[in-house]
Amino acid sequence: MNPAQAGSVVFQNVRKTFGAFTAIHDLSLTVEPGTLVTLLGPSGCGKTTTLRMLAGLEHPSSGRILIGGKDVTMLPANERDVSMVFQSYALFPHMNSLDNVAYGLESSGLSKKEARQKAEHGLELVGLAGMGRRLPAELSGGQQQRVAVARALVLEPQVLLLDEPLSNLDARLRRRVRTEIRELQQRLQFTAVYVTHDQDEALAVSDKIVVMKDGGIAQEGSPRDLYEAPASSFIADFIGEANVVPCEIIDISGTQATVGIEGLRHVVPARGARPGRGKLAVRPNAITVEPAENAAFSGRIRHAAYLGDHIEYEAETSGGTLYIVDPSVDRPLPPGTQVAIGLKNRGIAIIAE
Ligand SMILES: Nc1ncnc2c1ncn2[C@@H]1O[C@H](COP(=O)(O)OP(=O)(O)OP(=O)(O)O)[C@@H](O)[C@H]1O
Ligand SMILES: [Mg+2]
Repeated sequence: MNPAQAGSVVFQNVRKTFGAFTAIHDLSLTVEPGTLVTLLGPSGCGKTTTLRMLAGLEHPSSGRILIGGKDVTMLPANERDVSMVFQSYALFPHMNSLDNVAYGLESSGLSKKEARQKAEHGLELVGLAGMGRRLPAELSGGQQQRVAVARALVLEPQVLLLDEPLSNLDARLRRRVRTEIRELQQRLQFTAVYVTHDQDEALAVSDKIVVMKDGGIAQEGSPRDLYEAPASSFIADFIGEANVVPCEIIDISGTQATVGIEGLRHVVPARGARPGRGKLAVRPNAITVEPAENAAFSGRIRHAAYLGDHIEYEAETSGGTLYIVDPSVDRPLPPGTQVAIGLKNRGIAIIAE
């Protein structure tokens, strides 16, 4: 891979309809060269459709797509400088891994010898040096996945597209292969658009996450932006779990807001909120519980479950049922306990909507 190849991707007001159904409403998006951007969202929100339009396997109904500054909106797939790793990695079962990687190179006009040399290098890049003679069936799922990545990489595309590349792997292997893909992307500095519906995976690999909902963008930003400053309760609950708790925004002072839940007062970043009714996204591990009869914000434990390194509680409060993750495992509170509910400094955000 030649890092100078890395191209940008721009979607300008892209819309895609299938008959009367609008799959993508009005999508505008920029991917900077050399970065990994994830499209994340629930099933049916339009991730694959977006990726297929980028690959040239579908064409927008309106709007423009640019790759490396060049308008490719109506170009067919084979005239675009992208390659795609599909969800089912579709290796040729009768070809060994070296031939699988070399195949596309030969089709693009390289001699057999050159193609094989490049393919060897591709296998080396993904940590499979010396495995070229194995058939797909003689490789583990993770190794097959890496052959599929090598096969796409050796074509030296401006942009690498990955559609749920880890979905066929078990949980442990998923974590390892996602780390490998991210390390490879950072080392070689190629541009990648990565589709997943797994928020952990998105948080772990991305420079930027684009959360999609119903054919549009719900919010985009760095993993930290999305987690710490969710724009809506949908995002707060989709990126990590969150309790959405009604509150009173009592006072704004500079960039800080004082909020109240019952008699409890708490200071959080204001994020443009104005005094009045509001909502807080509260992470399960940002809540404390202490046995107490009377409290500024009180609750009653309804359910407790011991999970080794933490206890999970559900507590009934005036703001609804709270889901709480408490690391102090040596003093479990039994169901029925009256508790004082407190908030920690991190993990609480005003939701702007
Ligand atoms: N060829 C098609 N004809 C009609 N509708 C389609 C077509 N392709 C996709 N759709 C619809 O467009 C919407 C978005 O589909 P898409 O495959 O992009 O979703 P996705 O976000 O990739 O979902 P998943 O996580 O389930 O893979 C869905 O409602 C789907 O049914
Ligand atoms: Mg899909």
